Amino acid sequence: MGKDIDWSNLGFGYIETDKRFVANYKNGAWDEGKLVDDPMITMSECACVLQYAQTCFEGLKAYRTEDGHVVTFRPDLNAARMKDTCERLVMPVYPEDKWVDAIVQTVKGNLDYVPPYGSGATLYIRPYMFGINPVIGVKPAEDYQFRVFCTPVGPYFKGGAKPITIRVSDFDRAAPHGTGHIKAGLNYAMSLHPIMEAHEQGYAENMYLDPATRTKVEETGGANFIFITKDGTLVTPKSGSILPSITRRSIMVVAEKYLGMKVEHREVFFDEVKDFAECGLCGTAAVISPVGKIVDHGKEICFASGMEEMGPYTKKLYDTLTGIQMGRIEAPEGWIKVIA
Ligand code: PLP
Ligand code: COI
Repeated sequence: MGKDIDWSNLGFGYIETDKRFVANYKNGAWDEGKLVDDPMITMSECACVLQYAQTCFEGLKAYRTEDGHVVTFRPDLNAARMKDTCERLVMPVYPEDKWVDAIVQTVKGNLDYVPPYGSGATLYIRPYMFGINPVIGVKPAEDYQFRVFCTPVGPYFKGGAKPITIRVSDFDRAAPHGTGHIKAGLNYAMSLHPIMEAHEQGYAENMYLDPATRTKVEETGGANFIFITKDGTLVTPKSGSILPSITRRSIMVVAEKYLGMKVEHREVFFDEVKDFAECGLCGTAAVISPVGKIVDHGKEICFASGMEEMGPYTKKLYDTLTGIQMGRIEAPEGWIKVIA
């Protein structure tokens, strides 16, 4: 590994790597796409992405396994989710098989940046697409660019596996019939004010409630919730305005098939939250981050699992999921894509 990077002290930040993948959509068709060296993008001052935020993204990781391979985790599901996102944002779909191939090419072009096994760091891969031609009347772009870059990252939350404290937000992240279920850049733009306010008040994240009734748990700005009942059932919130997390869907399988837990995917009322034994956030960036405390306008919900470490069920889910990702535990058919 030729790169002079202090792998075990990485945060979740951007480090420029050697290669990125670029494909262009013009006159109704995608070109072949290729790896390039230049990290900069030049576009019209009136590009649709700049004026009307026609942009979307995905996030997945490459892992170095115990036996020295480089793999990704369920990239087909990211490709399928980006297809759903593109259809909602009136963007052209980048074909799913070529999408996965673009991920493979990008990781292969940056193999020296895949952190060593056991370092605690991983290679975060960011595929994204945006409308690039000038648009001034409100309408979709005609030309698009699809790109993939990657960057080595450490833990998303400072302190890694230490439980975090979050607050119930007064802001909504999604509208009832809006774009909460897709990975549109605009969802993150509108979360910037609430997250800055949460940080100023000392919270790591916001818990968003359902925008229609504000009685049900949705998700945070960048992760789904998992809850564990006192008798060891995994409960995850179901809603039409939550992003369908690939990590959460995988955890549901791990809980049921590997750990023999009961799994419920259903509406979760905020009033029930105080009765759960464990709470965590799950996502590609967050992996599984334990939540120790939720503050609702001064009222505190503290989880029995405590503030010092992950609760026992969360820990088992975390160990099994990361064991599968790092090649220590046999994965279900089709979950691991070997790159090198
Ligand atoms: N929810 C939101 C809003 C996200 O941005 C993400 C990150 O992708 C997730 C959940 C977790 O999804 P995944 O597990 O597919 O990374
Ligand atoms: C991810 O987990 O990939 C995310 O997109 C979360 C955040 C970085 C937006």
